[in-house]
Amino acid sequence: MTTPSEQPRFGTLLVIGLGLIGGSFASAVRHAGICAQVLACDRDAQALRIAKAQGVIDDYREHLGEAVAEADIIMLAVPILSMESVLLELAHFNLDGKIITDAGSSKRSLLEAAEVAFGEIPPLLVPGHPIAGSEKSGIQAAQAELFCGHKVLVTPHAMIDHGALAVVKALWRATGAEVLEMDVQRHDEVLAVTSHLPHLLAFSLVDTLATGRDNQEIFRYAAGGFRDFTRIAASDPTMWHDIFIANKDAVLRALRDFTLDLDKLRTAIESENGQYMLGVFTRAKVARDHFTKMQSRKAYMEPMTQQDICFIARPGGAVCGEIRVPGDKSISHRSIMLGSLAEGVTEVEGFLEGEDSLATLQSFRDMGVVIEGPHQGKVTIYGVGMHGLKPAPGPLYLGNSGTAMRLFCGLLAGQAFDTTLTGDESLSSRPMGRVANPLALMGAVIDTQSEGRPPLNIRGGLPLKGIEYSMPMASAQVKSCLLLAGMYADGETRVIEPAPTRDHTERMLGGFGYPLTVEGNRVTIRGGGSLKGCHIEVPSDISSAAFFMVAASIAHDSELLITHVGINPTRIGVINILRQMGADLTLENEREVGGEPVADIRVRSAQLKGIEIPQDQVPLAIDEFPVLFVAAACAEGRTVLKGAEELRVKESDRIQVMADGLETLGVKLTTRPDGIEIEGGAQIGGGEVESHGDHRIGMAFAVAALRASGEIRIRDCANVATSFPNFVELAQSVGFQLHTEE
Ligand code: S3P
Repeated sequence: MTTPSEQPRFGTLLVIGLGLIGGSFASAVRHAGICAQVLACDRDAQALRIAKAQGVIDDYREHLGEAVAEADIIMLAVPILSMESVLLELAHFNLDGKIITDAGSSKRSLLEAAEVAFGEIPPLLVPGHPIAGSEKSGIQAAQAELFCGHKVLVTPHAMIDHGALAVVKALWRATGAEVLEMDVQRHDEVLAVTSHLPHLLAFSLVDTLATGRDNQEIFRYAAGGFRDFTRIAASDPTMWHDIFIANKDAVLRALRDFTLDLDKLRTAIESENGQYMLGVFTRAKVARDHFTKMQSRKAYMEPMTQQDICFIARPGGAVCGEIRVPGDKSISHRSIMLGSLAEGVTEVEGFLEGEDSLATLQSFRDMGVVIEGPHQGKVTIYGVGMHGLKPAPGPLYLGNSGTAMRLFCGLLAGQAFDTTLTGDESLSSRPMGRVANPLALMGAVIDTQSEGRPPLNIRGGLPLKGIEYSMPMASAQVKSCLLLAGMYADGETRVIEPAPTRDHTERMLGGFGYPLTVEGNRVTIRGGGSLKGCHIEVPSDISSAAFFMVAASIAHDSELLITHVGINPTRIGVINILRQMGADLTLENEREVGGEPVADIRVRSAQLKGIEIPQDQVPLAIDEFPVLFVAAACAEGRTVLKGAEELRVKESDRIQVMADGLETLGVKLTTRPDGIEIEGGAQIGGGEVESHGDHRIGMAFAVAALRASGEIRIRDCANVATSFPNFVELAQSVGFQLHTEE
């Protein structure tokens, strides 16, 4: 609730009906001091006396006409089926200039009742519905805080008076509620599935149990499951009787869909169809977990709705200890993609539970694949075979992930159905022509927005033919996309790369038993093969380890062991570059895990020196440049990067965004279209920098603080969750003085 305003903004509020909602509303408005007077009218004279004695209302009137004459705003908090009779009564009085609103949970029935009472829908009628309540009822249960932090839906109709709408919204806001507008029909449908159906099921289940023969005995053993599922069966029976009648059509539609699904589950249990059951349960678990996170405002959502998370990095500190960073993002994406298309079960360990790879995982669930987990990095995928995917119920939302979108283009072009791919603001501005154009040469049709941007519509059911394609840029995403499409194409698909790029797709295809040949810079795959489910151990992501390699190099008196890091030769540009700059890095315990080389990396502080970065290392360190720029700022002398124009089309323009931030911190530099020149060695200052929603920029500036003279505030860091969800905790554990602020 808001604190009382000095002057009431509105005149007299009349609440008709002092049950739980009416009483709570009256009390909340009275406490907020937004109305000059809060009156009530109710058939229950005792409820009126209690309400006045408890300070829920200022006063009451026993005769409706008397109360209406005094009122400026009338709140109908009566049972839905009584709305019509109350409105008919109101129609006898002079209602000129009086705003009427309600709190009923079915809106079409209210408008119909108003038409019966007044012959038309009055412009000053503002339908509303608080999404708050309790299984308790009556004036005794009324509480002024009932609506605090809850949503209230107002459902404007075509005739509405906008001044009246604004007044009703202001009243609800004064109760502490968040007010949203919704169309009348949509409101009734949404409420039917989210509130009315669950109440119906709860009443029905308790009744079935209660009328069974040994009912008393059963209740004695019923525990949490029964309690949680059926709490709402203790709600007011008359009110719910009214709601089911008032919202009959929408409730019946929801009930029909639900019983069809329940029948399918019954059949699955009868035939012991474990996969069907697991499919339902795993999807439901993910959805319920997401709901829990939304309730606690911890869910990762589109940036528009997401909270702005700011990193506050205090200057200085040594970096010491031993850490293991999360699983490799590229390998995690591919494990879900190939595991889903395989025959049999694929077990994944070390899966990255970051938002990017989770978006890929959710997309395959949406296309009918049963996937258990992730639970502590473990995922079990029940593959559906090369042609077993089903159309998703809607567009696939890929969040921030360029890798997911580009690889999906190739994979989905080979399916029998159409798919739409969407993403967040950053992904929606990234170029997709680089995959759409070669796929078109294979016979695919991918509709893009202007300049090849997402959302993308991928036409399914078209025959693909193999091509030979020389990539204009060194891109593992483009290569992988074409190899995935090549599995569905007629004949051979050959991809030629201008410089080596990460080869996880090739390695993993081999692990799944899909033949392909690699000769120098050419990879060739033939369509029509199949994949066999397998076991995948995902090594830690060298791109995430890179932040700590630079951190322990630049921070004084540091020694850090980063364990289980993937050191695939196509990914170790960051190690090669840092060593050339004089970093003290040693690889220990080198081994191979599931077809990928892995090592523990020991890093000690060292005085770095500026270098000219060798061009052949650029594609091998493409994701590590933001933090390498920080290393360059701490190095003696100048560091020059050329041939890295790809950095301008990553999650942000990483050359410009890093340059802007470093300049704010006092670093001297010059940008080039394809790179940057950084003058190292000067003291890095403190200040506020923008990450532009780019995870790697946010983390890079947190590393910079280790050598800064003042605090660095880094804005817009929620997207760190896309690749490194526990970055802040891990960084703190080894000595960073870093925390977040919302
Ligand atoms: C990736 C390839 C790289 C990299 C991206 C992940 C992959 O992109 O930047 O973060 O998993 O294939 P490009 O292939 O476009 O350079």
